Amino acid sequence: MAYAVIMSGGLGSRFWPKSRKSLPKQFLKIVEDKTMIECTVDRIKNIIPMDKICVVTNKNYVSIIQSLLDLKSENIFKEPDNKETASCIGLAAVKLLKKDFDAVMVVLPSDHVIIGREEFEKTLKHAIDVARDGDCLVTMGINPTRPESGYGYIEKGERLEDGVYRVKRFVEKPNVDVAKSFLEKGNYLWNSGMFVWRADRLLREIKKYLPDLYRSLMKIYEAIGTFDEERVIEEEYSKIDGISIDFGVMQRTNRAVVLDTSFVWDDIGSFTALERFLNSDESNNIVAGGEVFLTEVQNTTILGDKRLIVAIGVKDMLIVDTKDVVLICPKDRAQEIKEVVKKLSNND
Ligand code: GDD
Ligand code: MG
Repeated sequence: MAYAVIMSGGLGSRFWPKSRKSLPKQFLKIVEDKTMIECTVDRIKNIIPMDKICVVTNKNYVSIIQSLLDLKSENIFKEPDNKETASCIGLAAVKLLKKDFDAVMVVLPSDHVIIGREEFEKTLKHAIDVARDGDCLVTMGINPTRPESGYGYIEKGERLEDGVYRVKRFVEKPNVDVAKSFLEKGNYLWNSGMFVWRADRLLREIKKYLPDLYRSLMKIYEAIGTFDEERVIEEEYSKIDGISIDFGVMQRTNRAVVLDTSFVWDDIGSFTALERFLNSDESNNIVAGGEVFLTEVQNTTILGDKRLIVAIGVKDMLIVDTKDVVLICPKDRAQEIKEVVKKLSNND
């Protein structure tokens, strides 16, 4: 049986100040008129019924998730700490295996934009078949359009069937020069971060490459359904060294397979990514939310809130207003927001 595992514990700090620790990006309406996590559920629910959709999240976000999604509480897997995606996915794997030894997991980030519903559904069904029958780790690959260093890159290997390739090499977040060389070579895809595999296969890979995490997951597996479950999860999470599934497993395994996809995909990793989705005016300004009064303003992105924003003679800027913080920075320095947020104490 196929289950969806939606990862929803990230902080999305590049979207600060719109996203906060208490309300990260997946709970915001960024491009569509629903929150990103609601859109994630909407796009899979024709393929995976609601009672097979699970969310892994920090315990602090449980009430937000319950208010947005019609999920049974047993389908919300709570993490006491943010230990990155290998443990998040590992926790979901043991939870699912406990009730279904044949569980196939469709692992999805909760903060992506995908356009092309039919294509997406077709690819998802195909990925489930490949993962179930091939006992491999399937990732959905995206044809790259720029040397983005925030993504994983996949070198296509042997063609297994139409649109399905063995992964020859997986390189997580290369630097820009390496990313450029991959783009020039032409046989690389971006890792979308959407994976499909059997839960038991994933655990075997974790056993091989992340043995400490595996030991913790086995202790959790034993405790699931007992009165001790929450305590054991807390105890084991305190010992886990956080690592992403990409660095921890995907970069090391020889069982990875990639599907060449054709839907439009974006992880909206920064405010500047909005330019790819929102309409701009004749001076190339993007205004999303709030009221503005602009005089000779060019190539500027403004995300307003309740106040009127007045700008005169401004060029190439990013202006983000919220009830307690205003961010003003040149667009080409937007990637620095993440670093600045780390230094701020009031990021709640
Ligand atoms: N539950 C839980 N716990 N969720 C988490 C945690 C955690 O500790 N850490 C991250 N997440 C969630 C995020 O909310 C997001 O939905 C998803 O897992 C992916 O995490 P990111 O932190 O956004 O990963 P990334 O964007 O840096 O990199 C991944 O995605 C890229 C594409 O967007 C990698 O898979 C890259 O290879 C990939 O290219
Ligand atoms: Mg991401």
